Amino acid sequence: MREKLEIREGSPSDSAAIEKLYPDAFPDEDLLPLVRELLQEPPIVLSLVGIIDRSRVGHVIFTTCGVARGTDKVALLGPLAVARAWQRQGIGSAIVHAGLQRLENAGVTQVYVLGDPAYYGRLGFVPEAGVEPPYPLPAEWRGAWQRISLSSAEPPLRGKLSLPKPWLQPSLWAP
Ligand SMILES: CC(C)(COP(=O)(O)OP(=O)(O)OC[C@H]1O[C@@H](n2cnc3c(N)ncnc32)[C@H](O)[C@@H]1OP(=O)(O)O)[C@@H](O)C(=O)NCCC(=O)NCCS
Repeated sequence: MREKLEIREGSPSDSAAIEKLYPDAFPDEDLLPLVRELLQEPPIVLSLVGIIDRSRVGHVIFTTCGVARGTDKVALLGPLAVARAWQRQGIGSAIVHAGLQRLENAGVTQVYVLGDPAYYGRLGFVPEAGVEPPYPLPAEWRGAWQRISLSSAEPPLRGKLSLPKPWLQPSLWAP
């Protein structure tokens, strides 16, 4: 990447840029209602903004959650968006890595994601079978449910992911 990318925690001053970023990155999907709701949920939500030359070019949210009947602190990655003009320049990967580092420092042991394995596999995510998403996934999406371990959970975690209300919408977990 030629220009310098700054990554920092999001703040209310980023709202207008975030409102433009998601429709630009996801022209066929309206993720803004979810993003708005999640941003109302600090401190369980970590919002990171990628900035180049004072433009917000990328954004990611991590929601800290748990696994039913367990004590491990875990998180869900999503949504992740990079402005179309800035895609494929390493920004998405850099923002995800920065978030994983912060979560590891905060004692989070596992991070889950529902996303394209071709993309998240490159970042170190592997298919997850022990911890289930809040709603059953259609067969064609099963490989999209993935995890990265930030520290070893012994024994491996099992159970259903418990998430805050903004994520408890079946439509977010189906095509
Ligand atoms: C997906 C997204 C977040 C990736 O961010 P990015 O900054 O463009 O990605 P990076 O530059 O870090 O990584 C680029 C690599 O990831 C892969 N990649 C990028 N977008 C991809 C996608 N939608 N599906 C599969 N692989 C993808 C490519 O292999 C690419 O490498 P290449 O250019 O050498 O082929 C971004 O492209 C985006 O916002 N896309 C639109 C929204 C979207 O599809 N989000 C879903 C996330 S699963």
